[in-house]
Amino acid sequence: MSQSRRSFLRNVGVAGGAGVMLHSMGALGLTSAHAADTPGFTPPKPSDLARVGGKSVVILGGGVAGLAAAYELLKGGYRVTVLEGRERPGGRSFTVRGGDRVTDLNGVTQVARFSKGEYMNAGPGRLPQSHITLDYCKELGVPIEAFTNQNANALLYYPGDHGIGAVQMRQAKADTYGYVSELLAKATDKGALDEELTADDKESLISFLESFGDIGSKEDGFTYTGSSRAGYAVEPGAGQESGTAVAPKSMSAVLAAGLGQYFSFEFGYDQAMMMFQPVGGMDAIPYAFAKAVGARNIRYGAEVVEWNNTPIGVSVTYKARGRIQTVDADFAINCMPPNIAAKVPHNLGADITASLKSFGPSNAGKIGIEYDRRWWEEDLRIYGGITNTRLDLRNVWHPSYGFNGDKGTMIGYYNTGTAADTYGALTPARRLSRAVDMGKQIFGDVYGEGITASYSHDWKTQKFSEGAWAYSRTADTDPLYTRLLDATGNTYFAGDHLSHAVAWQHGAITAARAAVEKLHARVTA
Ligand code: ALA
Repeated sequence: MSQSRRSFLRNVGVAGGAGVMLHSMGALGLTSAHAADTPGFTPPKPSDLARVGGKSVVILGGGVAGLAAAYELLKGGYRVTVLEGRERPGGRSFTVRGGDRVTDLNGVTQVARFSKGEYMNAGPGRLPQSHITLDYCKELGVPIEAFTNQNANALLYYPGDHGIGAVQMRQAKADTYGYVSELLAKATDKGALDEELTADDKESLISFLESFGDIGSKEDGFTYTGSSRAGYAVEPGAGQESGTAVAPKSMSAVLAAGLGQYFSFEFGYDQAMMMFQPVGGMDAIPYAFAKAVGARNIRYGAEVVEWNNTPIGVSVTYKARGRIQTVDADFAINCMPPNIAAKVPHNLGADITASLKSFGPSNAGKIGIEYDRRWWEEDLRIYGGITNTRLDLRNVWHPSYGFNGDKGTMIGYYNTGTAADTYGALTPARRLSRAVDMGKQIFGDVYGEGITASYSHDWKTQKFSEGAWAYSRTADTDPLYTRLLDATGNTYFAGDHLSHAVAWQHGAITAARAAVEKLHARVTA
């Protein structure tokens, strides 16, 4: 089982467990963090033109993988045709704005009523520093801004008998680190670690714990008695107002509530700050790719109904505006989600179908809720970041744009798996009312007040996706996986599912580059 292809599930921050499956550089076979910045790639270039000789490539799917493949192939003089089922580029990289209309596979239509300037990213919403997605933003002129993936003022809400309600992340950290430091310092001082540590080691460790946990000195029994790091009930102010720090929760309650269970999220290689987002919505990336590829090379509303290899190339049949049409080309790159590609007839053989079916699609859901005031900023001073909860909302995203404006759109839930299925099964109105009921438990009645628009997206019931992402359930060396890394006849495959960055646009782009590189090497050999 590929650890790093599966680890994103924890990294989304929905599992809540300790990060035992976090990416490790070793698992990725890298020697330094810097090596991850620049996965090797030599794009086709104009000087290859003579050898490429106008070869044609049909690309199935105008999501990020398909668009990136088309974009890179064009650099070498290939003729490309992108077939995209939807009427827009981007696939899962989808931003919802006022006026957008989406009909799901159950026939339910939602029209988003967000105000001008407000939006929600229904798919990807954050970009790590190491991802080549940022390089394409630069190359394509897509402006980016910071995405706040962690905020000390955001809340954790893990209800239970322990009596701890919603707490700020800063308090959860201060108390957890404080008590853990106290315990470890005491144990060290009592000699419990004498087999592991020298006298100097013990001294160094205790000195670290005093600072890390803000605990008392040896004379005070290393006791944690609270810390201003947890925040203030009365803010420090002018003159003699030194402020009143919030009281610590009890050690037993902190442990019982599991306040530390979410901390490992931000240790994740691809979830650590800094993170970024395109200004105005994630779809700026696919639209910039689509512009660079050129409208003449992309057919929207083109649903692939059959894909075949032929003795001299490939032949792809699609349905557009009721008409069946065929594109013949020298090569194909199939960038459809594997679960979708597996259902469309083709002549590449049962092995290929079996490979495509070996990727299990997972669900994810999001709701955007627009409010007539930014109560999370005005009342709670939460400027961006993520509130995490064990309620089935799982993650509530405070927007990283429009700070201090007079309205704002929160991601009221971002959940995966069964929690996503639970919301997905409801009507849009019931999704909102359930989200509001849950949100009120965390934030109070304000969560239900001043709502001016909402839109909810369930990826399982979206045509052309039928899931949020799909990962291989087999080992990296299993033919079910490796078979798709090389061409079958003249057909190649790409998509984030064929990468070690599943559920990231980076994965889609690196897989597209790998397919382009192989195709181009073959053509120019
Ligand atoms: N990459 C996705 C996220 O960050 C799964 O939520």
